[in-house]
Amino acid sequence: MFTTDTLSGKTILVTGGGSGLGLSMARHFARYGANVLICGRTEEKLVAATAAIGKENPAVKTGYYIADVREDEEVGSMISKIYADFGELNGLVNNAAGNFYCPSEDLSPNGFKTVVDIVLHGSFNCTRHFGKKLIDAGLPGAVLNIVTTYTESGSAFVLPSACAKAGVYAMTNSLAFEWATYGIRLNAIAPGPFPTEGAWKRLMPNPQVEQVYKQRQPGGRFGEPEELSHLAVFMMSDMAAYMTGECVTLDGGERLQGGQFNFVAQMMPREQLKAMFGAMRPGKKG
Ligand code: HXC
Repeated sequence: MFTTDTLSGKTILVTGGGSGLGLSMARHFARYGANVLICGRTEEKLVAATAAIGKENPAVKTGYYIADVREDEEVGSMISKIYADFGELNGLVNNAAGNFYCPSEDLSPNGFKTVVDIVLHGSFNCTRHFGKKLIDAGLPGAVLNIVTTYTESGSAFVLPSACAKAGVYAMTNSLAFEWATYGIRLNAIAPGPFPTEGAWKRLMPNPQVEQVYKQRQPGGRFGEPEELSHLAVFMMSDMAAYMTGECVTLDGGERLQGGQFNFVAQMMPREQLKAMFGAMRPGKKG
């Protein structure tokens, strides 16, 4: 489906692109022809990630910027520097995030603020600077926001993240309409469980929790970063030129846990279930 031309002519910035899903998406954007820039707070990670992307994809341009997305001035300077270095920027992936488990009654105001600052204010800061440059130049572009499957449902123990991601979701839809007239598309991906080091060390306290979590998955597995990255390539490409204001869930069906009789699927092996259901058919004895 994709070729090395799929994203050619595009320059895409991935926030938090030094590791995890951000790095995986950055690698795939480069593989399919985009110039790829990443930003984050830790230079060491950014240097290693940029070198890896460049080594795998010598035909595209790569670069990194040290910036904390919470700081509007830093973001503004970064976007100006990108224009000075590369002459353009037509794709933005708001991937940088912060999250930790905490019973909400124990959350400090600063704990709540910190996550909301990174996720919601950070995404706004990057999107506004990115969009304003395009609008001033009369050029089109694409924004992809990484939200979560608990954007709509909410979730226990990650209140600041749930509130912030819901805000990013609202921003996606609001600007998709408002900026459609400028040819700027905004979409989102809501990933389910993707085991990356950063997320897992914060959200999986021990192997038992991970095991229970895996058993909850209707397909019995977590997602692979590559699967999410392929979706991101499509959504950032011109193949998706008419797609805006869309949030695509990629969770192997995890969010559908609430179906009234879904619990039965996980109670016993399928053959045993079939026997049980068979025995319940009218006219069956036993
Ligand atoms: C309670 C906590 C806490 C914890 C921090 N705080 N960790 N409170 N429980 N585990 C509080 C601190 O006490 C402090 O409040 C405030 O939060 C700020 O903490 P700092 O450590 O000073 O902040 P900072 O250094 O800016 O770090 C931000 C961070 C950190 C969010 C806390 O974890 C981080 O940098 N994370 C970035 C990467 C990340 O989180 N990735 C996971 C993304 S996963 P006080 O009141 O003491 O001053 C994701 C999707 C989930 O988002 C999908 C799941 C499947």
